[in-house]
Amino acid sequence: MKKVIKYLRPYWVFALLCPLAMILEVAMDLVQPQLMSDIINNGILGSGPMDENLAYVVKTGLFMLMYSLIGCAGGIASAAFGTVTAQKLGNDMRKDTFNKVMHLSFQQTDKFTTGSLVTRLTNDITQIQQFVAMSLRMFVRTGMQFIGGIACLLMLNVNFGLVIAVSLPVQLAVVTLIMRRAAPLFGIVQDKLDKVNSVVQENVTGARVVKAFTREEYEIDRFDRANTDLMTTNLRVQRLIAILNPILMVVMNASVIAIILIGGLQVEARAMDVGSVMAAVTYITQILMSVMMVGMMFQQVSRAMASAKRVEEVLDTQPVIADGDSADSEITEGRVEFKNVSFSYPGFGGKPVLKSINLTAEPGQMIAVLGSTGCGKTSLVNLIPRFYDCTEGEVLIDGVNVKDYEIDKLRGKVGVVLQKSELFSGTVSENIRWGDDGAPDDEVHRAAEIAQADSFIQGFNEGYDTMISEKGASLSGGQKQRMSIARAILKKPKILIFDDSTSALDLSTEAKLHAALRENLKDVTVIMIAQRIASVMRADKIAVIDNGTICAFGTHAELMETSDVYRDIYYSQMKEEGV
Ligand code: UTP
Ligand code: MG
Repeated sequence: MKKVIKYLRPYWVFALLCPLAMILEVAMDLVQPQLMSDIINNGILGSGPMDENLAYVVKTGLFMLMYSLIGCAGGIASAAFGTVTAQKLGNDMRKDTFNKVMHLSFQQTDKFTTGSLVTRLTNDITQIQQFVAMSLRMFVRTGMQFIGGIACLLMLNVNFGLVIAVSLPVQLAVVTLIMRRAAPLFGIVQDKLDKVNSVVQENVTGARVVKAFTREEYEIDRFDRANTDLMTTNLRVQRLIAILNPILMVVMNASVIAIILIGGLQVEARAMDVGSVMAAVTYITQILMSVMMVGMMFQQVSRAMASAKRVEEVLDTQPVIADGDSADSEITEGRVEFKNVSFSYPGFGGKPVLKSINLTAEPGQMIAVLGSTGCGKTSLVNLIPRFYDCTEGEVLIDGVNVKDYEIDKLRGKVGVVLQKSELFSGTVSENIRWGDDGAPDDEVHRAAEIAQADSFIQGFNEGYDTMISEKGASLSGGQKQRMSIARAILKKPKILIFDDSTSALDLSTEAKLHAALRENLKDVTVIMIAQRIASVMRADKIAVIDNGTICAFGTHAELMETSDVYRDIYYSQMKEEGV
């Protein structure tokens, strides 16, 4: 909750005006029963002549109307100030939380899960907003109605104190009892909502796979389970809350009857007039209504506390991958060195995925990384742009530990073509410009030419202005790979990493790509992961990875002489291709 108050601070003027306007509304509400009592006593039941009585009714009635208009204006102003405060606060909070999410490292977002982050950013912040808007108005309203109501009631007749003395403790006990049982459920509701969001998110993004495997029924079932789970918990909360108001209403009605009873006796004894009894009924209703409001507020407070805790968890997470100290270190050459690097994924049972890796890529060299699936190739290159940090040893670029660079400077010079091409909805050139927003058209075309993408893009009806659908669904696998390569090239990196990014290209296109890279990116260090020997033969050096270690390193010719593993891979692949 501390964070909520921090976010409220910039809007303190609105936050202050809201309850002030509310005071006006409640004050007018408190005056009304008194005026009504006057109308009854001096107007309707007045002892004067008929037309005088009527004139009194009209005059006082006009006052009542005026007061209620003032009250109405106060109410509107209060709602407006409250809403502005809540919306602005929510907007700031959402912005900061989103910002935080963007800077979390992979392992941290994995821990929260995507579905939960979505709920926290949307539903949880909405809960906090509703709480702020309501509490700014209701705390004042309830407090004034409660204290003001009691004071007015006792002023009418102290005997009414008896009714308050009995009904208030009963109401408070009911509210406390029910809310204590409901409060812990609010956090659980949000967790269940996370699950629903996770299933939706996974299925919407993976719609194609779901269809390909005709898993619709299974997934609908999975969604059903999460959804029913959410409903059950919500129902448990709502059941508790459903019994709250009717019980409070019973207490309230009983209190009204008691007031009429006591009032009647007082009228009989000529200690009170009828109008005052009517006013007393209105006051007791206001007092007990305010206790009902407290019940509602408890509900909102517990909801908001659960949500605030969840949002604060995100806001308080410190990104484990943060900027290094050497702010002025720049990558100028692109020499990559792995020194005794070991790495294990958090939560992978601490089992090392990479063990004592030593590897150097000189500026301008093309180093290929070859190895069976799951041997740790992607994990190895992920350490260069610090998608993860190594657990032992160090990764150096131009002699400086990658952890010492500013993240933006580091990633700005490392181009990565991921194993899975991710494109975004937009035109072809917009997608390539992800590498560099401001690049002129001819640079975009040049990058596409090197990536062997220019020819197929020119073949599209609208060329570079062709729209690509979400996730690049309108392109073939090989086209997506080449677009991703063009995007990385446009960035003008010093180090360019291809993670199996030519797997969907035929051998001749791949050969053309290699030649273009050699010719145009002479001083760029290229690290190329591949499964096919044909893809790596032309590299300056090839690192063969087996089970997380480099088991052989050298040129194709050298490895054919010295490495059994390499020779095995070579012959098995050549056999497959019928050579
Ligand atoms: P890699 O993803 O590094 O393997 O995973 P790879 O060599 O690139 O494999 P291919 O060729 O793309 O298929 C190495 C090991 O790390 C684990 C995997 O289970 C694998 O055994 N791993 C990977 C994790 O534990 N967590 C991850 O987030 C990724
Ligand atoms: Mg991989």
